[in-house]
Amino acid sequence: MDAPRKIEADPAFRHDVLQGFAAAIPAVPARWLYDRRGSELFEEITGLPEYYPTRTERALLERHSADVARIAGTGAAVVEFGSGSSAKTPLLLRAVEPSAYVGIDISGEFLRESTAALQDEFPALPVHPVEADFMRPIELPPQLRRAAKLGFFPGSTIGNLVAATAVDLLRAMKNTLGSGAWLLIGMDRRKDVEVLLRAYDDAAGLTAEFNLNLLHRINSELDGTIPVEAFQHRAIWNDMLSRIEMHLEAVRNVTFTVAGERFTFQAGETIHTENSHKYGLRDARLLLKAGGWAVREEWPDEQDQFALILAQAEAPRVAP
Ligand code: AVI
Repeated sequence: MDAPRKIEADPAFRHDVLQGFAAAIPAVPARWLYDRRGSELFEEITGLPEYYPTRTERALLERHSADVARIAGTGAAVVEFGSGSSAKTPLLLRAVEPSAYVGIDISGEFLRESTAALQDEFPALPVHPVEADFMRPIELPPQLRRAAKLGFFPGSTIGNLVAATAVDLLRAMKNTLGSGAWLLIGMDRRKDVEVLLRAYDDAAGLTAEFNLNLLHRINSELDGTIPVEAFQHRAIWNDMLSRIEMHLEAVRNVTFTVAGERFTFQAGETIHTENSHKYGLRDARLLLKAGGWAVREEWPDEQDQFALILAQAEAPRVAP
């Protein structure tokens, strides 16, 4: 029988894990949670009863996509950042009748699948997959140069970035889309801590599996010897920084190697794996403003759990 095929280690993954494990406060960037298994687990999380963001945002899109068309107009090129599974995109596209659709994602495989599905659903729509890191300004297809642009960034993915990085991203988006562009962004709200903790530590244990999958990935891609059962998933509300934090906590003293390097964690020590910031109305406005976007309309749900925000790229102007 053939030996199982080993996935080629990504040097950036190796670097981030080795540096992150050796840091005074151990941490690994959240992007590494999303290998194929991690992405599948995240898709499953979005259907959990405790994970309110996805269904709330979907209901907001059903209710307000026509308002987006009324305010931002129809016929723009829709540019989706981190298009992933593009599950909610058709709701918007049906309302804004775009002249083209651009899906930007760092994972080519996911991107090709999701844009192919969209093309099937909208056969007459020019669909452009762009495999790129949307944290940097991106060259859009040249035929879209003159088109009006509507950026789409759903899912509260912006919440996974610390404020400085979120502002960098908003500026990069503005650069990519150009002056006068619109941006429709989903942002999760601050709310009852119990609701938040349940959403990030669900009864079925899927979020725990999603978090612990990082250790399995390290073992298989970076020659790790981490005993995964020596760690447990922890979701913590950090009120000062208004965010849920995911950590992997050692349940006993443990020593292992990754890519030949040795690490020891004492019982109770953690590896910080993700932040999910929650924004109040004013925080969201301020963040967008810092990134060069002026809020034109906001649509929260009745329970104020989540908001869709429509913003427009601001022209630079003199400020006192
Ligand atoms: C992708 N992102 C918006 C999710 C969130 O809610 O921050 C990731 C996630 N992590 C655990 N559950 C969901």
